[in-house]
Amino acid sequence: MDSGLENVVAAETILSDVDGLNGRLVIRGWPVETLAASMAFEDAAHLLWQDLFADLPDVPALGAQLGAARVAVAARLKDIPDGLDVISGLRVGWSLLPDEETLDSAVLLAAAAPVLTAAAIRRGRGLAPVAPDADISQSADFLRMLTGDMPDPAAARALDAYLVTVCDHGLNASTFAARVVASTRAGLVSAAVAGLSALKGPLHGGAPGPVLDMVDAIGAPENAEDWIDGALSRGDRLMGFGHRVYRVRDPRADALKAAVARLPGTAGRIAFAEHVERAVLGRLAQKYPQRRLETNVEFYTALLLEALGLPREAFTPVFACGRILGWTAHAREQIGEGRLVRPRSVYRGPVPVAA
Ligand code: ACO
Repeated sequence: MDSGLENVVAAETILSDVDGLNGRLVIRGWPVETLAASMAFEDAAHLLWQDLFADLPDVPALGAQLGAARVAVAARLKDIPDGLDVISGLRVGWSLLPDEETLDSAVLLAAAAPVLTAAAIRRGRGLAPVAPDADISQSADFLRMLTGDMPDPAAARALDAYLVTVCDHGLNASTFAARVVASTRAGLVSAAVAGLSALKGPLHGGAPGPVLDMVDAIGAPENAEDWIDGALSRGDRLMGFGHRVYRVRDPRADALKAAVARLPGTAGRIAFAEHVERAVLGRLAQKYPQRRLETNVEFYTALLLEALGLPREAFTPVFACGRILGWTAHAREQIGEGRLVRPRSVYRGPVPVAA
């Protein structure tokens, strides 16, 4: 038995292929680097949902549908209780949507993610939500709903690069959770809430906030080695490093680093992060000579989302704003399988005492 299921194949998919030995990620036939450099969120939605929803329109019409859905969701923000952290705001808000298996349900989930996330961030700052603009791209609207101002096109482009880069990634823990729930025919909303709940953990999508905490705690290049040695000697895991599947550098790390580098004013922060990264990789290689631990997606995610002005507690919900495309696509694929996911366990508990 494999407690982490690492050698278990539990699905066939047309959505994405993670080649952990060669550090390659292909999403519906496209290398992730190409997607990150050229696609907007709406294009990625179309790419992942094609063939899975018979009524999927073309990209411009899908963009219009997403815009209209953002406006529809914003009208329901008043139903979300106060005092929730950002991820709970997203989880509660999603739970209120109609739990169906339709394109409308997928569009509502994808459109709701930035509306709910931006509103929760603003609520935490004591600010009222900014109404969505159905006529601009989802990434531009996300940043606009965050600040109230129309974003610089470079910032919207960087957010697109991020959301597209993380839109799907094989049978990771959250996608598996979403597929299991979808197999029960509970609906896409239930599958997405399950995915989000799995994503939240620090070993999965909860890592980028702690990445910045680490970078800030190190503070200056000369502190890096001592800080890292201290963390490793306490048995801590260094966030943003290591991966269950990749045995080489995660290809998303460089796609995201390139996206941060295109934003003005980030050169100094990137240079310091690179110093921290080199120091961590050196120490991990010393400690685990038999097991290559490399930079994963979360390290440069943290830098990119910070540069876009997002607070740390919103990093995981923003990840979900991209990954919702993969969760809904996988959920539809699983529904198409028509088979409940129900593995077995080996009983190791006490046996009944004979009377
Ligand atoms: N820092 C320190 N030690 C580590 C790290 C790390 N980042 N990653 C793995 N190790 C150690 C493990 O503790 C283990 O040590 P041990 O043999 O002494 O117990 C050894 O390296 C081998 O671990 P693996 O089997 O390679 O790790 P696993 O596949 O179970 O875990 C995981 C993968 C969870 C991503 C792990 O590398 C980790 O915790 N990383 C930090 C958290 C993180 O960055 N998460 C985001 C992942 S990307 C994503 O999900 C979106």
